[in-house]
Amino acid sequence: MLEKELQDALNSQINQELTAAYNYLAISAYFEEENLVGFANWMRMQHQEEMEHAERLQTYLLDRGGHLELEAIEKPRSEFSGALEAFEFSLETEQENTRSINALYEKAFRLNDHATKTHLQWFLTEQVEEEKSVEEVITTLRMIGDDVAGLLYLNDKLGERKHDESEEA
Ligand code: FEO
Repeated sequence: MLEKELQDALNSQINQELTAAYNYLAISAYFEEENLVGFANWMRMQHQEEMEHAERLQTYLLDRGGHLELEAIEKPRSEFSGALEAFEFSLETEQENTRSINALYEKAFRLNDHATKTHLQWFLTEQVEEEKSVEEVITTLRMIGDDVAGLLYLNDKLGERKHDESEEA
């Protein structure tokens, strides 16, 4: 039986993942409008991953006999001064998500809910990967600076990103 406190926290985490998905969708559209379709593709893949994270949590919540309560999602930010600022905003999104997953894990730990702790292990590992991949792009963008050729090279590289099926819930 899922404690009400944990059910609320899982619902809140689902909202967090959907918020991240919405952010990435808006950033993808921003890049599309800037004609940086590789960056847009990367963000679209990220959007899909976040949707899958929300679904993964939703499935778990329902499997445990919990009640799904979807909340409103804030309007996402869609204006940026450039690729670097868009990725810095993405990193903030991921860091916020990591904090939220950690708090959820601590709650499951405190309530001795071992199944939820096990389920959240995947998310803890995933957050390390997600922050790392955004940080790598930020590092490259800082090196590129105002070099348009460098930006277009990175645009090509990010355009190669494909949907990772191992992520699917
Ligand atoms: Fe679902 Fe990017 O964390």
